[in-house]
Amino acid sequence: MDILRFSDLCAQGKVAGQRVFIRADLNVPQDDSGAITEDTRIRASVPCIRMALDAGAAVMVTSHLGRPKEGEFKPEDSLAPVAARLGELLGREVPLVADWVDGVDVKPGGVVLLENCRLNKGEKKNDEALARKLAALTDIYVNDAFGTAHRAEATTYGIAQFARVACAGPLLAAEIDAISKALAQPKRPLVAIVAGSKVSTKLTILQSLAKNVDQLIVGGGIANTFMLAAGLPIGKSLAEPDLLGEAKAVIEAMRARGAAVPIPVDVVTAKTFAADAPATVKAAADVAEDDLILDIGPKTAEQLAAQLREAGTIVWNGPVGVFEFDAFAHGTETIARAIAASSAFSIAGGGDTLAAIAKYGIEKDVGYISTGGGAFLEVLEGKQLPAFEILEKRAAG
Ligand code: 3PG
Repeated sequence: MDILRFSDLCAQGKVAGQRVFIRADLNVPQDDSGAITEDTRIRASVPCIRMALDAGAAVMVTSHLGRPKEGEFKPEDSLAPVAARLGELLGREVPLVADWVDGVDVKPGGVVLLENCRLNKGEKKNDEALARKLAALTDIYVNDAFGTAHRAEATTYGIAQFARVACAGPLLAAEIDAISKALAQPKRPLVAIVAGSKVSTKLTILQSLAKNVDQLIVGGGIANTFMLAAGLPIGKSLAEPDLLGEAKAVIEAMRARGAAVPIPVDVVTAKTFAADAPATVKAAADVAEDDLILDIGPKTAEQLAAQLREAGTIVWNGPVGVFEFDAFAHGTETIARAIAASSAFSIAGGGDTLAAIAKYGIEKDVGYISTGGGAFLEVLEGKQLPAFEILEKRAAG
């Protein structure tokens, strides 16, 4: 992808003394008291900020937090906890600046965090007047917010149109590089795992991947609908019978290319959805009318693990069973460990997937873990994300 990279500007000595505006995605989960419960996105944003400081820039960083009502400040929408955590990670105080649209006081070597950008009127709708004001604050605009790359808002799109220079930060660039490596020029076989409760929410992803991947492993409620499409009983398991036609079309599209959607040969069932529900392993053909399928069975898990071990590239989105309950976690654990052991380049994304990676402690064995939720899914759908589109346009002049 042809975009200007902030790291190149730094290496060329073009950043010293410049006002640099970094759009990061610091949208992290918090508990009821506002304490940050998971700080991956803040940690992932630090290299860009350090890069700008080391290059001698005057650094402004902003992000959204949640979906506040524009123009109406509430304490729970404040980036104050993020400023504190960022300060710990940078080893220096990071002042939080409110009402910043008309001017920001920051000197070269300094860094400030600009309060939740979604409090500014016009942010969500990418208002042109707001975007021009934001652009006037900076010499160099850096988009490092992959998690928000699928939104065309004033701090992710409009500012990039009007800033003197618009470029990608190291996190955004790393995400593009990893995704292109996985999907544009993959080492084959390319295996994708798409799991989740509903086919309807991931149908476009399945259709898009069906044109490219060699094995399309489905899991969760999605697998149930595919089992139905393959003529198997699924009892009272979650499924979308109205999407059987679409599921059959995906299976057919894969078959026509000499590729496959592996259908489970065995499953783990229970009579109720509960952590302590007795688990029964049975052949896929033997699922009873009152059964709930809560995981793939050990034979299926082993077959899929063998395919993952042979893969050249793996894209992983979604656990294949209810891995939060130990009795139904074996399938997801087997998949996770097979990915970790595989020599394939692997890329993983999505909240549940990240939780599974953390549960099995395989962070270091996954090629790339995306910080994107919705953004990662839209890339898998084959969409061009607005943040990349505008940076490409700017790079083309
Ligand atoms: C996310 O959490 O996926 C991103 O920060 C984007 O947030 P949004 O869906 O509110 O735009």
